[in-house]
Amino acid sequence: MKVSIIGAGNVGASCAEYIAISKIANEVVLLDIKEGLSEGKALDLTQTASTLGFDTVIKGVTNDYKTTKDSDVVVITSGIPRKPGMTREELIDINAGIVNTVTESILKFSPKAIIVVVSNPMDTMTYLALKSNRLDKKKVIGMGGALDSSRFKTYLSKALNKPQSDIHAMVIGGHGDTTMIPLTRLASYNGTPISTLLSKDKQDEIVSSTMIGGATLTKLLGTSAWYAPGASVCYLVDSILKNKKKIIPCSVYLDGQYGLNDICIGVPCIIGENGVEEIINLDLNLSEKNKLQESAKAIAIMNKSLKNFI
Ligand code: NAI
Ligand code: 2OP
Repeated sequence: MKVSIIGAGNVGASCAEYIAISKIANEVVLLDIKEGLSEGKALDLTQTASTLGFDTVIKGVTNDYKTTKDSDVVVITSGIPRKPGMTREELIDINAGIVNTVTESILKFSPKAIIVVVSNPMDTMTYLALKSNRLDKKKVIGMGGALDSSRFKTYLSKALNKPQSDIHAMVIGGHGDTTMIPLTRLASYNGTPISTLLSKDKQDEIVSSTMIGGATLTKLLGTSAWYAPGASVCYLVDSILKNKKKIIPCSVYLDGQYGLNDICIGVPCIIGENGVEEIINLDLNLSEKNKLQESAKAIAIMNKSLKNFI
C-alpha cells in the first residue's frame, strides 16, 4: 500500500511518522515545494526504522509528482497554518490556490486515490478538491472531526479522571471554532452517559474547551498543532488501507443527508477501502439539528469565496 503526503511541514511529517510506525503502508512519499525539506524529513524518519522496527520505505521529493504515482491514499497537508489570533477561515485565499493546484497534480498520477484533505479551512478545502475535479464523493474525505473528537475525549477524560480509551464521544459539524458540535448528549464512559456523571456547567466548560482546542494550541505553540492532527490522519488512513470500516466523523459531501445539500461537513462515516462506505444518520435532537444547520450555513458562506475555482 502506498500513501503520499503533499506538504512536508509539521502535520505532513507527523502523518508520515505515525503511518510508518503503525506499519500500515509499504511506502510513504513526502512531497513539498521547499527544496530539500521532504528529502531531509524522509531521511531523518528513515533513520528511525531500525530503532522503531518498521520497514516502510519513506521517500522525500521536491514537487516531483511522478514519485507519487499509483498512491492508494493521498493526504493534502500543504498550505499555510494558523498563527496565534488567526481563525482557520482567514487562510482561505492562499490555501484554496494551493489545494487546487495540488489536487490536479495528484490526480495526474493517482487518478484512483482516496484523497484526505487536512489543509484549512478544511471543510471548504474538501469541497474545493471534490468540486473542482468532479471527483467521486466517496473518495474525498476531510479530516477534522477525528481530531476534534480526540480533543473532546481528552477533556472528558480529565474531568472524569478516567482513561481516554474508555470514553466514547464525537464532534460533528464544521472544523471551526464556532462551527464544531461536540455531542455531549451522546458521549459515554463505557456505556454510562457522561450527562449523568458531570454537572451541566462542567459539560459546557468541556464543550467550550473542545471548540477552542486548536486555538489554545496555536497560542501555546505559535503555530497550529501537529501530533494529534498527524495521529488522527493516521487513524483515518489505517481504516482505509486495512478496510477496518471504523466510524469516524469526517467532512464529506452531503446530498440530502441531515437535510443538507451541496456541502462538505463533519458527520459520522464508515471509512473503508472505498473511502466513505456509508454516512451514519445519527438521531439528533432539535437543538443538535439546529446547530448542524447553523454550522452548514457558515461553511456555505465560506464556500462562496471559491467562485474562481469551481
Ligand atoms: P506547515 O507550514 O508546517 O507546512 C505546510 C507545508 O506545505 C510547508 O512545508 C509548505 O512548504 C508546503 N506547501 C505549501 N504550498 C505547497 C504546494 N503547492 N505544494 C506542496 N507543498 C506546499 O503547516 P502545518 O502546520 O503542517 O499545517 C498544514 C495545514 O494543515 C494548514 O493549512 C493547517 O491549518 C492545517 N491543519 C489542519 C488540521 C485539521 O484538523 N484539518 C489540523 C492541523 C493543521
Ligand atoms: C487544529 O485544529 C488548526 O485545524 C487546526 O489544530
